[in-house]
Amino acid sequence: MPTRLLNKPTAQIRIYRDAQELALKAARRFARLADQYVLGCGRFTVALSGGSTPRALFSLLAAEPFLETVPWSSIYFFWGDERCVPPDDPESNYRMTNETLLSKAPVPRANIFRIPAEKDPHTAAEEYSMTLRQFFITGPGAVRSATAPLASLPRFDLVMLGMGPDGHTASLFPGTEGLQVSDRIAVANYVEKFKAYRITLTAATINNARNVTFLVAGEDKAATLKEVIEGASQPERYPSQLIRPSNGALLWLVDEAAARLLTAETR
Ligand code: 6PG
Repeated sequence: MPTRLLNKPTAQIRIYRDAQELALKAARRFARLADQYVLGCGRFTVALSGGSTPRALFSLLAAEPFLETVPWSSIYFFWGDERCVPPDDPESNYRMTNETLLSKAPVPRANIFRIPAEKDPHTAAEEYSMTLRQFFITGPGAVRSATAPLASLPRFDLVMLGMGPDGHTASLFPGTEGLQVSDRIAVANYVEKFKAYRITLTAATINNARNVTFLVAGEDKAATLKEVIEGASQPERYPSQLIRPSNGALLWLVDEAAARLLTAETR
């Protein structure tokens, strides 16, 4: 049965000419959401994705007009996933973000909560979960509201995600144990093809966010994007299909090359 991932009024797809236009639209959306949440509740909490696609977005945010206008001091940065490497490793998502954005924008270091992925994977996942629990649920900064659907999970204002050609998102890879976990905030997920663990938010935590935005660019993702959005429901094979916010907005920002196989109905 087709997933029709977009048949909810809160799920949309926007298609842009190329990766540059995609990055610019994503930067404007980030800035708009930051203003909206900082104005509305005094802070904006965002979990970033890694990989290569967000680089262009981060570089734009680290330049004018965004550098001047974004309320950096009220934004709290987290990550959706991390490779099990030290923060100065070329593979580190934290390092990539720090080099392209956080070292250039006036973000207080106290607002940056990286995944301690240099530690034992299970320790890193537990420590990161504790950090999120304290920030969002038990700590002084926790926003308590009767409407928050699941008090046991953090509720990010924005979770940014990418998608791999294999349909993975964050570090929720096809056929991995982490796909099944719904009672934890983050896990150490063993990925056979890398013969390594990754630290990742669970789908349950991602789906508890107010906004989830995918950034997907490039020809090599076209066939998978079609399967994920229009194909049969196979989340074990295409983990990006697990992402369906329970009480939030889902937005796919993609470029023409990645969207080329989508039907007119979806577009
Ligand atoms: C990571 C990511 C991962 C990424 C996809 C897409 O740590 O690699 O968080 O989920 O978003 O692999 O990566 P690209 O943007 O490089 O295609």
